[in-house]
Amino acid sequence: MAATLFTNIRQLVNIREEDQLLRGKALAYLPVLKNAYLMVEDGIIAAYGLMDEMPESLTVVEEIVDASGQMILPCWCDSHTHLVFAASREEEFVDKIKGLSYAEIAARGGGILNSAKKLNDTSESELIRLAWNRIQELIRMGTGAVEIKSGYGLSVEGELKMLRVIKKLKETSPIPVKATFLGAHSYPPAYKDNHSGYIDLIKNEMLPVIAEEELADYIDVFCETGFFSKEETIDICKAGMAHGLIPKIHANQLHLSGGVQAGVELGALSVDHLETMDEEAIRLLAASNTIGTLLPTAAFFLRMPFQPARQLIDAGTAIALASDFNPGSSPSGNMNLVIAMSCIQMKMLPEEAINAATVNGAFAMGLQDSLGSITVGKKANLILTKPIPSLAYLPYAFGSSNIDRVMIAGEWA
Ligand code: NIG
Ligand code: FE
Repeated sequence: MAATLFTNIRQLVNIREEDQLLRGKALAYLPVLKNAYLMVEDGIIAAYGLMDEMPESLTVVEEIVDASGQMILPCWCDSHTHLVFAASREEEFVDKIKGLSYAEIAARGGGILNSAKKLNDTSESELIRLAWNRIQELIRMGTGAVEIKSGYGLSVEGELKMLRVIKKLKETSPIPVKATFLGAHSYPPAYKDNHSGYIDLIKNEMLPVIAEEELADYIDVFCETGFFSKEETIDICKAGMAHGLIPKIHANQLHLSGGVQAGVELGALSVDHLETMDEEAIRLLAASNTIGTLLPTAAFFLRMPFQPARQLIDAGTAIALASDFNPGSSPSGNMNLVIAMSCIQMKMLPEEAINAATVNGAFAMGLQDSLGSITVGKKANLILTKPIPSLAYLPYAFGSSNIDRVMIAGEWA
């Protein structure tokens, strides 16, 4: 039996007997065990406790890791990414530095349409290779589960190709992958003046095949001024729901788009982004079961105001944190940076940020039964930090790599 015993762990972080979606004051409570042991068996968390109470019988294992001075955390659960893409877009990044706006870049064929063109010209195997390398990089940075969206196809073939790539990643990736259909990410040029035609394509040509081939878990819409309205979002999500997909919506990124209202009305699992919120949207979301997923690196990269995390948390919203890893608005999937930015720029407490990136992140991708906390029976996807003085040191020392090693399903990554 493959087993690893960790001894002398300075802090074993986020130990929970059962998981609940965390909101309000509960988000700031991060249960830890100091001077602890942790036993991993066959890829699963088998036991943990205080060093003083460690049964002698546990020490007959293949591998004993003395974690003196080090912390162990559950891996980050990144519930919002677009990590299948054909090429980076640093030329737009430079154009923006020179003063071009998002709209001007889009008008030049940049933005999402730029990625869509490149993706449609790239083979399935090349997309798999590129995405695989990105997942490997994320794992080294402590990510132990990832959601991936389509949305750079914007054609029947392109969207299905992307989702088949994600399905392949699901089957082969060492970390759990969830798939989201985001056909409604933008309008392809041929449907620029025929929005209802493209929405019909999504509903009649894409969704039935996606359901038939079981290509997606979730349905997403970019609910945004100039993209998909609140009504169109509801219409598309309902069509997805009729095929068994659960909504997770891009909401309120650039404008008060009605995305939060749509998500709450639909009972969406999450509404994501939330840079642009008013009191009504905050109140509605806080009173709902829908998770508010904040993507601070996207706000940072686009030089936008950060999400109002404090108001959201204080109103009682269940907050998750995710990377939004994509070539246009967050060319980084580094969750350590996401956590640091949440503390530095949005005034989240380190405990809140860690909970939002683990327990609540797992909930935001339906993986709360197997990931997101140190719980007996859950998958041993673990971060072993370097020796660090405290948990707050993680977001504080934001430019350092504080991770020593990552374990995925009981194996060193
Ligand atoms: O989540 N906002 C919409 N979609 C992506 C950006 C897509 C792109 O620019 O390629 C996002 O930020
Ligand atoms: Fe996104």
